[in-house]
Amino acid sequence: MGRGQWLGVAAVCAAALACGVAATLVSRRTAARRRWNRAVAVVRELEEGCATPTERLRRVANSLAIEMFAGLASEGASKVRMLLTCVDALPDGSEEGIYYAIDLGGTSFRVMKLELGSGSMVVNKKVEHQPIPEELTKGSSEDLFNMIAFALKNFIEREGGSAEGKALGFTFSFPVRQASISSGSLIRWTKEFSIEEAVGKDVAQCLNEALVRNGLNLQVTALVNNAVGTLAMGHYYDEDTVASVIIGAGTNASYIERSVAITKSRCLLTSELMVVNVEWGSFRPPQIPLTPYDICFNDGTHNHYDQAFEKMISGVYLGEIARLVLQRMAQESDVFGSSMNCLSTPFILSTPCLAAIRDDDSPDLRAVGRVLEQQLKIKDVPLKTRKLVMRVCDIITQRAARLAAAGIVAVLQKIGRDGTLCGTTEARKIRGEPKRSVVAIEGGLYQGYSIFREYLNEALDEILGDEIASTVTLRVMEEGSGIGAALLAASYLSTRQQHSP
Ligand code: BGC
Repeated sequence: MGRGQWLGVAAVCAAALACGVAATLVSRRTAARRRWNRAVAVVRELEEGCATPTERLRRVANSLAIEMFAGLASEGASKVRMLLTCVDALPDGSEEGIYYAIDLGGTSFRVMKLELGSGSMVVNKKVEHQPIPEELTKGSSEDLFNMIAFALKNFIEREGGSAEGKALGFTFSFPVRQASISSGSLIRWTKEFSIEEAVGKDVAQCLNEALVRNGLNLQVTALVNNAVGTLAMGHYYDEDTVASVIIGAGTNASYIERSVAITKSRCLLTSELMVVNVEWGSFRPPQIPLTPYDICFNDGTHNHYDQAFEKMISGVYLGEIARLVLQRMAQESDVFGSSMNCLSTPFILSTPCLAAIRDDDSPDLRAVGRVLEQQLKIKDVPLKTRKLVMRVCDIITQRAARLAAAGIVAVLQKIGRDGTLCGTTEARKIRGEPKRSVVAIEGGLYQGYSIFREYLNEALDEILGDEIASTVTLRVMEEGSGIGAALLAASYLSTRQQHSP
């Protein structure tokens, strides 16, 4: 072959090679785009599944209000328990003296001392937070209550006070059946707790016995749910407080009901009013489909109870929903590269991490990158993927906050403060004198996550309309659940003293 021919062959080969490289590049790019599109599709599907347009939220509120009516009619008639709390009077500001409280409900508990002066004046307040070791949330009830009693004893000693004859408020943030203000049996555990042998026991008595074992001469005066404590504190400061909501590790609401509206357990009704603990966490909104990630949640791996509303709204769960979505994205595509082992660890992404991702307003989403690297050990995630991760956290946050708003509207509807006649009229308009409704609110998720608050407030306005929404005030009660228990202990002690011969 002559030189010219060799050159010709070389040129053809080079062209073929170039074509081959280009084709490989194109097909790689096409494959990468396909994988990216699959990740995007996961997010789109999530978005559709979590959609909460205003009209749907109205129907959710209506369904919950109907469940609330049913729950007051007879035991077991509704998904929401509508527990009668035996609280038939709320603190009015006249309480005085020194009171103690214990607040148990999440992964930490609080002991507190409250000094009250008349005229709704908290003269002095001392609060101590203590973590609960995980093994105690699943161990024996004796160990759990011993630890609490021991902590209270140390606290009182450090404070240099005496427990002798003092009233004690006990906030116990789980569903409890009460026959008196100072006792109640545990119906079931929720959130991270599961000490099965405690179910059915009187938790106030468990604590009283532990107090005796620890040499404390003190007894539970008022056993209250955290929603009820928050309502009591709200009412102490503002008589227009009609309901309370908790949005923290778990979620719940309580409100003041007229006794005539309650047909079950009539023997417990001693006055015109009764505070009802809704236990809305167990509501299952029929209008909101469970996404595959919610279904995973209900399949018995973490908790086998079914708390659908709570699992869509509250702090124990939101981070985990996000982790499940990210895991699915990683399975469907290569958006997180090969370092995705951590994504298979349940509960590795906490809700505060989800909030940190959603709250990141830096142009290059630095905080998102940091959380992915520090929590999930996924490094060097490109900006467009970080944006997608933020979107996931946003969708989950938005659904949670908007459902919580629908829950609040349901409670307002139940007591006729939503502008409709039991939800039956389409137009929400003020009829007659507008009444101011204050809803006391507490919980780390609501208090610590500004975007959650914004979404919730926005949805409240949408559902109620501006006119009615302007009559509703959400008022944060810092430490409301514990302080409210101490306030109720104070008001019940003084009632008892007035009635004793
Ligand atoms: C419990 C409620 C509690 C709520 C908020 C739920 O899991 O069932 O009793 O009020 O969490 O802590």
